[in-house]
Amino acid sequence: MALVNIKIEGKEYQVDSSLTVLEAAKTCGYEIPSLCAFNHGECNSGSCRVCLVEATGGGARGMIASCVFPAAEGLDIHISSPKAVEARRRSVELLLSNHNMNCQQCDKNGKCELLHVAQITGARENAFTGVRSETTLDQLAPAIYRDTSKCILCGRCIARCSNAHGLGILGFENRGFKTIVAPAENRSFANSPCIQCGQCVSVCPTGALMEKSEIDKVDDAIRSGKKVIVQAAPAVRAALGEEFGYPIGTPVTGKMIAAMRRLGFYRVYDVNFGADLTIMEEGHELLHRIQEGGVLPMITSCSPGWVNYAEYNYGDLLPHLSSCKSPHQMQGAIIKSYWAKEHDIDPSDIFVVSVMPCTAKKYEKDREQMKVNGIKDVDAVITTRELARMIRRSGIIFNRLPDEEWDQDIMGDYSGAAVIFGVTGGVMEAALRTVYYVLTGKEHEMIKFEEVRGHDAGIREASIDINGTVVNVAIASGMKSAKILLDEIRDGKSKYHFIEIMGCPGGCINGGGQPYVRPVFLPNEADDILDNYKEKRAKALYSEDERQVVRQSHNNPQIVELYEKFLEKPNSHKAHELLHTSYSEKECFPL
Ligand code: FES
Repeated sequence: MALVNIKIEGKEYQVDSSLTVLEAAKTCGYEIPSLCAFNHGECNSGSCRVCLVEATGGGARGMIASCVFPAAEGLDIHISSPKAVEARRRSVELLLSNHNMNCQQCDKNGKCELLHVAQITGARENAFTGVRSETTLDQLAPAIYRDTSKCILCGRCIARCSNAHGLGILGFENRGFKTIVAPAENRSFANSPCIQCGQCVSVCPTGALMEKSEIDKVDDAIRSGKKVIVQAAPAVRAALGEEFGYPIGTPVTGKMIAAMRRLGFYRVYDVNFGADLTIMEEGHELLHRIQEGGVLPMITSCSPGWVNYAEYNYGDLLPHLSSCKSPHQMQGAIIKSYWAKEHDIDPSDIFVVSVMPCTAKKYEKDREQMKVNGIKDVDAVITTRELARMIRRSGIIFNRLPDEEWDQDIMGDYSGAAVIFGVTGGVMEAALRTVYYVLTGKEHEMIKFEEVRGHDAGIREASIDINGTVVNVAIASGMKSAKILLDEIRDGKSKYHFIEIMGCPGGCINGGGQPYVRPVFLPNEADDILDNYKEKRAKALYSEDERQVVRQSHNNPQIVELYEKFLEKPNSHKAHELLHTSYSEKECFPL
């Protein structure tokens, strides 16, 4: 690390020369406002000019954008000089002059970075009034919407789509005053190969990109008198607490259950039951393919973002996808069949709500293939963020809630294997625990398969020897990594039997519907929070796995009962009818 000497506000410091002025100032204890700069240079377009400071020496003369200017020997930086303060305020006023300021109607209110910098810089008046750019409101896609009247053209969404998936769905369209961020030709997300993962939403500093809220739909269902049953995915409990001031990585399962009950849900279930069911079906499907010469490698199908990507880009590889529905869809189908029968309730009087870390699940539940006899498995999907909004709106003081338990009747048990579905590598590990048992008749001594664990994007691989059967596995999250494995299959060079692919980098814990991780709003978190929040959330799930008495899906007593009383056996005709699905190739740019 090469050190350079700089001055900030007249005081001398030594800083790492690889840092930008913005980053160097932070290490010296100064927070310069910023918007377009995000996550260690993931986006550094230098376009918003909110980070201007006055500087001389080290190649600078006058006002510089601190997010792109390198910390150079001899720099003399002034953050609080009248000129610097005025320049930053003007930059924010210019952004506001082209902004739809309907803050009270905006779901981003309270988490809006533009409002935050406006407050810090003192940009309170409408300094520049006049014509505004034409607005595009794209509400056609089921999971996310785009409102260009709130876009500040920072480019963070463009960078994230490309970094996570190599996709480049979003880009700058038009020129000058007419510039907007949009899919090609300003198409709707619905008419582009967008996979609906919501990663762009998770980095947008304003309300320009948001999940499409289904809170009203849930409210209507509760008011209608239907039996509204809620089920929450594992990753939700690992992050919901962040919305209520808990440190990142604090599991809040008990309080979340208590809150959902107080919101008026008739039953509160864990999607983990569905995850155990998925493992039973998927594990047996894998064994069948290995033993009977089926299509290999088999690829997991729990992530609708990934399924979307496959349908758009790898239509020829669709037979590799497991035919299993994802856990919440399986559980929805079981609620409207087995559960309904056991409780003598007409399935059409049941409304199933899934709380998911994922925006693409909103799309998934609307797929034609996710119905049984014309009845949808799941009726509404809300994200972790939407659940937090519902809790706040209802006046519930989350932190003071008691810890409560999931409803137990017939689908309340779950294994540790199910909990780790929320982490990249978790589905693989859960499946291996059951596949090992089916092939050997005994439990894997260690229970854990450390080789497949991780919390970031990128590819991990392992070879597991199970009683002489070597199972080669690989894990990828984010489509950029997945593409490498998929191209190997296409080229006939894949050595794997089983591949886990998750749409979002790091898996569901980093889903597009999870709480925003913004250091400016998290004063009690360490500076490196953007580097380790995924690890912290993952730990919350692994620790729950460790605490479970039952660690394997096949040992969940209520799953055993479900097969005995209703489904007969994994992959039975009945199981296929309710729990399996199909895929079809999609056109990237239909018209
Ligand atoms: Fe530096 Fe936008 S944060 S120009």
